[in-house]
Amino acid sequence: MAIKLAPSILAADFRHLEADCLAAIDAGIDWLHLDIMDGHFVPNISFGPLVVRALQSLREKHSIFLDCHLMIDNPDAYIEAFAKAGAQNVTVHVEATRHLHRTIELIKSHDMQAGVTLNPATPLSTLVEVLPLVDLVLIMSVNPGFGGQRYIPGSSDKIRRLRGMLDAVGSHAWLQVDGGIGPDNAAEVIAAGATVLVAGSAVFQADRPIADAVAAFHAVF
Ligand code: DX5
Ligand code: ZN
Repeated sequence: MAIKLAPSILAADFRHLEADCLAAIDAGIDWLHLDIMDGHFVPNISFGPLVVRALQSLREKHSIFLDCHLMIDNPDAYIEAFAKAGAQNVTVHVEATRHLHRTIELIKSHDMQAGVTLNPATPLSTLVEVLPLVDLVLIMSVNPGFGGQRYIPGSSDKIRRLRGMLDAVGSHAWLQVDGGIGPDNAAEVIAAGATVLVAGSAVFQADRPIADAVAAFHAVF
């Protein structure tokens, strides 16, 4: 399975969001990670379906995969809105919904890929029953809510354990890791089993042009 870099636009400069995304696209990315925050599930507010809709031209012209990470309470109430805005993957937190199986079915009923994710302190055992159903599993390697945080070292072991669980059920789901990822730890998380690396500050807030920041990742995979 190819390894994907999914830049998180939370770290982009919103004064020229499209230009920042196009710089990353020109450098060879084809996923964008959209961090949706409600100020309740996480202590920060970011943006909603409006920004997903604003990026539809990138999806259409450049075949960009819009990967939405919902850090919100009661995600069921917003699945249709993200589908109508043009999201292609919606990932929900196991901690944010009482009926995870129903939420996954709801996402898929809107013809989107369904992802699940869990906070650093949440055990992988919470995912066992839904692993065969999902298209993506995201390991949070920081406590959600903000970009620019440091990678939690124990996350590599959690990725390894999840890789074993996915292989055991014959799942071909993407194994995504998110938080504190840079060119310096990309090889480590890939070796542990990750297939999608989310990176915000390492792409959009690095001390180098966006194209060079993306190239630094592609020098690793
Ligand atoms: C954190 C978000 C991450 C974050 C990544 O709640 O889910 O996607 O934006 O940013 P960096 O790569 O800077 O840690
Ligand atoms: Zn994220």
